[in-house]
Amino acid sequence: MRRWSHVCLAAMSLALVTVIIGTQSRTVNGQSSSDRDSQRRARFTHAANLDPEANGNGRGNATEAPAAFDNLTNGFELQATFDEHRSAFEDVEGKADGLGPTYNAQSCRECHQNVVTGGASQVTVQRAGHLVNGHFFDSQGGSLIHSRATAPEIVEYVTADDPVRALRISPSTLGDGFIEAIANDTLLRIRDSQPAAMRGTAVVVPVLEANGAARIGRFGWKSQHASLVSFAADAYLNEMGITTPLLPFENTSSGRDVTAWDTAPDPNDDGDDVDAFANFMRSTKAPSRGPFTAQVDAGAQVFTQTGCATCHVASITTAPSGTKVNGGELVVPEALGNKVIHPYSDFLLHDVGTGDGIPIQPTDEYVPTANRMRTAPLWALRTRNRLMHDGLSLTREEAILRHGGQAAGVTAQYQKLSAADRAALLAFLDSL
Ligand code: HEC
Ligand code: HEC
Repeated sequence: MRRWSHVCLAAMSLALVTVIIGTQSRTVNGQSSSDRDSQRRARFTHAANLDPEANGNGRGNATEAPAAFDNLTNGFELQATFDEHRSAFEDVEGKADGLGPTYNAQSCRECHQNVVTGGASQVTVQRAGHLVNGHFFDSQGGSLIHSRATAPEIVEYVTADDPVRALRISPSTLGDGFIEAIANDTLLRIRDSQPAAMRGTAVVVPVLEANGAARIGRFGWKSQHASLVSFAADAYLNEMGITTPLLPFENTSSGRDVTAWDTAPDPNDDGDDVDAFANFMRSTKAPSRGPFTAQVDAGAQVFTQTGCATCHVASITTAPSGTKVNGGELVVPEALGNKVIHPYSDFLLHDVGTGDGIPIQPTDEYVPTANRMRTAPLWALRTRNRLMHDGLSLTREEAILRHGGQAAGVTAQYQKLSAADRAALLAFLDSL
């Protein structure tokens, strides 16, 4: 078992049964909600030093990352192991496996499948909280409001006490292993090359499996995670209600005790599933492109000239193989190292006027993340028909026209384009 979980277990055994008077604190499952909050925060507090993760090897011999929607491994794992791990990602969990008591869906695939397992989907999840003196506080039991439960009594509802609300749609996880293999320094160089008015924010987050080692976040709508093991453990608990050694405590139902419904022993999974999910995602190929036509090629130029590519970065090279990332927990292998990918993202946060008001964590450090969103990677865009973090933009053009804030100047440029250039730009987007 990892060291930090001992810390949490120790904290839990000391957990006070004292009832502290106040709206932020109640005693559930033997812990007061303020203990839970402080544990959650402690877990999401990163260690101080950021490793640049860059090593001296030249990058002259970088090659294109393999790209296809074909259920075949990118070489990170053998095909047979990949198939086994894909089936873990597809497994439908039930109560006996630890599903719930509160949850959003029964398998990773339920929300990540299009056109193959691991892709994006139309499923959205709800978040909610409230402001006290301008500071965001999670809804009782966390900002994620689960939409399902193993019993009607414990379904969570948003209440009038939590007027800050958001929907977030399920993104693709295909090619995520390449994103994980991008060195911290590479993301910082992209940030530093952006003009001041459009410069992104690199958020530093803890790598859960490396005792909270500091790394630049790149996964999720807020770049709230830096590693796929961390994201998988978080999703297993928060989307499916399955506890693991990395995140061993069940969620409550809006702060209410669910012990009576929590029949499977915790941790529900010994961590093997988390590794299987992470290794499946690490083995997926990058999304492939649609046909290149003269109009698509012209649109790619318009995309760059208009300024879209300042945030939606067209090409990034991953760290050379042998580089230690994730606080030393992952050594970039040949299959993922020194690969050129075309994610059309900088993985940084920007305020483009669409922020949902919900920070990565309700702590001082993450206040700036409340109204910033990660530049949505545009690879696999042609597989998506509901856009932006809330899925509420149904056309490419509506998504573009919602960009304000740091992208306002670029959006103004877009509106000045000739009809032919605009059509080319949209054709380019449809080819991604
Ligand atoms: C109920 C739907 C749902 C289920 C089930 C679900 N996810 Fe997700 N997933 C989401 C949503 C929504 C996001 C974006 C969350 C956010 O940023 O707030 C996401 C984001 C992700 C990301 C980040 C992808 C990226 O490139 O940014 C990863 C990785 C991921 N999920 C893995 C998993 C794994 C592994 C499982 C199974 C243990 C899983 N998810 C189960 C809905 C789901
Ligand atoms: C300042 C940075 C920035 C610039 C410039 C920018 N974008 Fe974005 N883009 C973002 C962010 C951040 C999001 C996610 C916003 C959200 O979901 O609320 C986004 C989302 C999108 C989406 C939705 C993708 C999805 O998966 O839902 C599309 C399409 C898009 N941008 C296209 C463009 C185009 C075309 C241009 C140029 C005309 C452009 N963007 C310029 C930052 C930028």
